[in-house]
Amino acid sequence: MVLIIRSGLQVRHQQKPPAFYTPKKGGKKVSINLWLHTGLDLLWLANGVVFVVLLFVSGHWARIVPTSWEVFPNALSAALQYATMEWPVEDAWVNYNALQQLMYFIIVFIAAPVAAITGVRMSEWWPKDAATLNKIYPAPLARAIHFPTMLFFVFFILVHVFLVFTTGLRQNLGYMFAGTNMLGWAGLIWFLVAMVVVVAGWFAARPLLLAPIANLFGRVSSR
Ligand code: HEM
Repeated sequence: MVLIIRSGLQVRHQQKPPAFYTPKKGGKKVSINLWLHTGLDLLWLANGVVFVVLLFVSGHWARIVPTSWEVFPNALSAALQYATMEWPVEDAWVNYNALQQLMYFIIVFIAAPVAAITGVRMSEWWPKDAATLNKIYPAPLARAIHFPTMLFFVFFILVHVFLVFTTGLRQNLGYMFAGTNMLGWAGLIWFLVAMVVVVAGWFAARPLLLAPIANLFGRVSSR
């Protein structure tokens, strides 16, 4: 997500892109930043498809899909509880509270698909000559939605990580990164390894290192 957000912002702010990419099988030339952004998006989507399939096959969907309207008043009640600084710290993994359930549902089943359909609309993969479709769903509309969707992801990540840290860091990281209930160090260690990968990815995502990879899939040029 860090690299997706970073490359998206680079696309947004680029004046003169450092390099360009042209697909092997032809197609429009895009900036190397956009190549990175859409390339990561494909990996993210593939990962998401696996996640959603496993979610339903395993029956775990019931944990994040609300099945009663009560989720709304209950989420409000949970929000009030959070506001009193009385955070639920026990069994956070066994049972999500209504606010967690609602937020996870929105991220997986609303925000991610919205990012995808607005992103694809702006991308080279979208059919350009579908006149009626493009009139109902113009690219500027997709752009206007795509950016706030990113802001929502950032908001979610900040709150989520903050609460993971403040409601039992070692225990929560154990659940998340080591898949264990035991209060050991494995989760924290894996988390730190993951952070090293994130930071390394951040610094590696520069034209000089991206160009050889992009060259495997197409042609990189300086203009
Ligand atoms: C399937 C998923 C996605 C696809 C296909 C996609 C595609 C695109 C494309 C084609 C652009 C370039 C728009 C332009 O040329 O102006 C773009 C911009 C951007 N993307 Fe994505 N994207 C996806 C997911 C995401 C996600 C998950 C995030 C962040 C959470 C994100 C953040 C951004 C940002 C910040 C921009 C710059 C927006 C702007 O210029 O206003 N994208 N994306």
